[in-house]
Amino acid sequence: MLRASLGRTMELLSARDKARMAVLFLMMLVSAALEVVGVGVIPAFVVVVATPAKALESPLLGPVLSALHIQSSGDLLVYGAVLLILIFLVKNAYSVYYNLEFARFVHKVFNDLGEKVFSGYMRAPYTFHLGRNSAELVRNATQEAYIVSKEVLESLLRLVMNAVLILGIAALLFWADPRVTTFALVFLGSVAGLSLRVLRQRVTYHGMQSRKARKAMIQAVQEGLGGLKDIRILGREGWFVDAFTAAGRAYARGQIFKQVMATAVKPVIETCAVTGLLVMALVFHAQGRNTAEIVSFLSLFGIAAIRLMPALNEFMFAWNTLRFSAGSVERIHADLTLNQASSGTDGESMPAEETPADVAIAFRDVSYTYPGAATPSVRDLSLDIRRGEVTGFVGPSGSGKTTIVDLLLGLLEPQSGRILAEGGDIFAGLPAWRSRIGYVPQNIFLTDSTLGQNIALGIPESEVDAGRLEAAIRDAQLEDLVRSLPSGIHTRVGERGVRISGGQRQRVGIARALYASPSILVLDEATSALDNATERDFVEAIEGLRGNLTIVMVAHRMTTVRACDRLFLIEKGRLAGEGTYQELLAHNAGFQQIV
Ligand SMILES: Nc1ncnc2c1ncn2[C@@H]1O[C@H](COP(=O)(O)OP(=O)(O)OP(=O)(O)O)[C@@H](O)[C@H]1O
Ligand SMILES: [Mg+2]
Repeated sequence: MLRASLGRTMELLSARDKARMAVLFLMMLVSAALEVVGVGVIPAFVVVVATPAKALESPLLGPVLSALHIQSSGDLLVYGAVLLILIFLVKNAYSVYYNLEFARFVHKVFNDLGEKVFSGYMRAPYTFHLGRNSAELVRNATQEAYIVSKEVLESLLRLVMNAVLILGIAALLFWADPRVTTFALVFLGSVAGLSLRVLRQRVTYHGMQSRKARKAMIQAVQEGLGGLKDIRILGREGWFVDAFTAAGRAYARGQIFKQVMATAVKPVIETCAVTGLLVMALVFHAQGRNTAEIVSFLSLFGIAAIRLMPALNEFMFAWNTLRFSAGSVERIHADLTLNQASSGTDGESMPAEETPADVAIAFRDVSYTYPGAATPSVRDLSLDIRRGEVTGFVGPSGSGKTTIVDLLLGLLEPQSGRILAEGGDIFAGLPAWRSRIGYVPQNIFLTDSTLGQNIALGIPESEVDAGRLEAAIRDAQLEDLVRSLPSGIHTRVGERGVRISGGQRQRVGIARALYASPSILVLDEATSALDNATERDFVEAIEGLRGNLTIVMVAHRMTTVRACDRLFLIEKGRLAGEGTYQELLAHNAGFQQIV
């Protein structure tokens, strides 16, 4: 499982990221080499200072020293100390630089991944969102992307780095004393290996629990704040707070486990290393070796242990973190590949079928079944929506009106049949098709910004066309509201638009749709939240738009659709009648029943 996750982690990286990672890896090797040198030079220095004659006469070092005019033990001490300081300066300056590059890399990957994931979600097929909880998507785009870059990638690099470091130190020790080193490595290695094995499943388990808890926390906050009004009246705040607290506790348990695991490794290794070292010294003493030998052994292995312990510690920590967080890679990888696959589906060339000049949208034998649903919500639907007309869809609740609207918006793709507009199948060129549509949903979503920014949603303020904005406000009959606001269109309407009424909100939705200068305006239950007087204003606003625009509306209220040029009666996903309000009222039993 771990190896598969590592493979997936690599797949998440771009070619450039991989190249950068390779460079980082090389830098890391240099860093590890410098660390090994750092470990070696101090005992070397101690030996040289303790027995200067040996160094001065040695066949390797002697000529170098005499070439540098180093002849006394005093010279050795001074020059050696200076050299040592230089070595440590270089090593540590390099280490700072390396860590900077490392942090940059990790955070660049975080930004890239987050962007890829979020942009994938924003562009994913509508049905993707029907099947997914938004709290999970929030978690993946923010926290999981961070965990993949910070914990997984970082652990991966640290794992390799410390493995190299451990091997380097081991090689050095082996060269100094093969027997003792072999014994030490086997001993420490089995302690480390055993503890990793024992912890394995619990690490994976806690990682999974943490991930679930992160989602549950977001969900509790989102749902609690999202439904605050209903929840307050019902007095159920406690349930959401409890859900949040329970998730928080579960998350904390995972993190405590991770933290304790990280800190528990060190004492274990330290105890083993110190005990081992001192036992060896005693053994040497018993063997009758001289003090100088024991001191040089202790200084080499002591320093090595001091560097080896954190390396081993970090190695094990990285290993466990990888295991703990590997699931985050799975989540991100699955969503990224899923959305990549689905983004390539358009562009199949369909035979161009012409619609008559006066038809704006034509449904031809369209059927649609929701993913996982047993029965189709729209069946063999064929109808023509005429250009410049106001067309209404009526029918009982659950009959399929919203589904029809979502089909013609191109949000849902029918399993059979075709939806044609001027220029052919709408799915052959969705962006172009959508640019011609203005859509007013039942619940108008407001961002926490000004009225103007809400109407020109997602358009940078400097690019907003003042003339079009004004026209949209006029056509949506929002002029009175704008006049009454303290700073006109620059008034903040607040998060969730708490400072404007339901009817005003609907008209902001219309203005938003109109700002894009659509040729087709689609309204789904846009009047159901309005009182009679406001509805009348609304219908008037729509009437004012008649002629230039093709208008499609779904409405429960008969007063809203009375003035429609044509009504379609939908029952159980099928077309059950067509005509003007009067025609249907005179001849259609189903319609009479609804009225
Ligand atoms: N995401 C979904 N997954 C499965 N079934 C769905 C989904 N959305 C809607 N349906 C089903 O499809 C049918 C039509 O739903 P639709 O929302 O289109 O009805 P509607 O006519 O707009 O109703 P209303 O007037 O109440 O808004 C219903 O039976 C509904 O249960
Ligand atoms: Mg509906």
